[in-house]
Amino acid sequence: MKFDILTIFPEIIEEYINKGIVSIAKEKGLVEINVHNLRNWTEDNHKTVDDTPCGGGPGMVLKVEPIYRAIQDLKKENTIVAITTPKGEKLVQSKLKDFSTKSDLHMIILCGRYEGFDQRIHDNLVDYEFSIGDYVLSGGELASLVLVDGITRLLPGVLGNEESLSDESFNDGETFDYPQYTRPIEFNGWKVPEILLSGDHEKIRQWRESQKASNR
Ligand code: ADE
Repeated sequence: MKFDILTIFPEIIEEYINKGIVSIAKEKGLVEINVHNLRNWTEDNHKTVDDTPCGGGPGMVLKVEPIYRAIQDLKKENTIVAITTPKGEKLVQSKLKDFSTKSDLHMIILCGRYEGFDQRIHDNLVDYEFSIGDYVLSGGELASLVLVDGITRLLPGVLGNEESLSDESFNDGETFDYPQYTRPIEFNGWKVPEILLSGDHEKIRQWRESQKASNR
């Protein structure tokens, strides 16, 4: 599984992928994540990646040439080129799961900025446009991290405890996690439910089952 992330803010991406679960997955060799500065594919002194919209209007638009060159350099035979956009297909757990089963997946992710991409990028260079929700962020870096994190943690061997995946929220699209507690068993007068201290695994399983739907 390999990701190439194209952004004008590589530090944002680096900071996240070098911590926690994603970092462990990289160290185990289960995922390769390369972060690239889009400006490396510009050819002018100012390393320009954006320009004013043709026909006028507010904001700036990401230019086609640097993105075209970057994709040509990074693309292999089976590469999926993805872009982040609030207008894209809404990312859901089942999609993350699909991607996570494709062990030879190579994905180039273009992080959006400004008023968006030159339409010719959408029309000619991209396979998958995704959104992380119905709101507009100032850039696609967070969205690309959501995609990479969401896929990576599902890869076999990453979490180490496959049970924690099979139990978790959204696994069947409907149920939610049961409530979790840890020590101390009483804090500030707030108690852990007795049943969790009973040692009766079957009763605990049934109780957790009964709590799933209501834990929203
Ligand atoms: N870029 C800006 N807003 C976004 C969103 N909601 N999802 C994906 N990319 C975005």
